[in-house]
Amino acid sequence: MSEPHERPLAGRKALVVGGSTGIGRGIAEAWAAAGADVLVLSRSTPAGSGSEALRWAPLDLTDADAARERLSEATAGTLDLVCFSAIHYGDRRALFGEVTESEWRRQVDVNLHGLWLTLQSSLPALRRAAPGLFVGVSSEVVYNAGPGRSGYAATKAAASALLNSVAQEEDADRVRIVQVLPAGMVDTPGIRRRRPADFDYDSYMQPGHFGELARLLAVTGGAEHHGDSLVVDGDGQWRSVREEIPASQSRAVRA
Ligand SMILES: NC(=O)c1ccc[n+]([C@@H]2O[C@H](COP(=O)([O-])OP(=O)(O)OC[C@H]3O[C@@H](n4cnc5c(N)ncnc54)[C@H](OP(=O)(O)O)[C@@H]3O)[C@@H](O)[C@H]2O)c1
Repeated sequence: MSEPHERPLAGRKALVVGGSTGIGRGIAEAWAAAGADVLVLSRSTPAGSGSEALRWAPLDLTDADAARERLSEATAGTLDLVCFSAIHYGDRRALFGEVTESEWRRQVDVNLHGLWLTLQSSLPALRRAAPGLFVGVSSEVVYNAGPGRSGYAATKAAASALLNSVAQEEDADRVRIVQVLPAGMVDTPGIRRRRPADFDYDSYMQPGHFGELARLLAVTGGAEHHGDSLVVDGDGQWRSVREEIPASQSRAVRA
């Protein structure tokens, strides 16, 4: 049997929106490994190693009415931990004039309105935990923008501003809001869909690099980092964006 110190989140309830794959999955697994009861919401079921520790229910953020209902069910009662990591990157890196309105709307629906819906539903449940922790997964693009990713940059910057604003409204004794973001690129299914089959991912980070920070924030309640954005590097170490703006990961769009 595991020792209590190995399961410091035993008895805690967590929700991870967009936790089926990628960074959200890394955070969901870290919280579950520390003993939390983790519910993942996404379109597809978490698969593979580690998925057995996660509960799952379907959620499609492009259907706002159904999503509101599902989030309302998932946030009834008290929640100790919530993470929002859902993303629609766009089908490919494309210049602004080549992006369809429906593609833009999808990015707004998932990346920004999805966060708005999640905050609206989950903040009351987090306040009941007093303190509850909300972790938003951010991006360097918030600070750098870049060609071929206007919809991604715009929605991520707006999402970050939304979280920063709400953080200033919340009483930190009841809810802490912390953003986390990678210093470089992370090897995830969403990124792989946009790369050639023979792409070399050796220099990429892994979702597991977020595990230690997610665990620590959950165990400590994130009090010291309320309202901050923490940049995680390839060693799993982190620093505040206030110390150093992360490097741009943008590259030129091929003609
Ligand atoms: N990977 C990187 O290099 C990188 C760099 C900087 C920042 N980030 C940030 O990291 C976060 C996660 O990205 P990732 O690369 O880890 O992505 P990912 O592997 O593609 O995961 C995205 C998650 O969003 C869910 N999702 C997508 N569309 C959805 C929808 N319509 N409704 C509900 N859930 C939906 C996906 O689940 P389903 O497909 O099952 O619905 C999945 O759980 C994002 O905030 C991104 O901006 C990533």
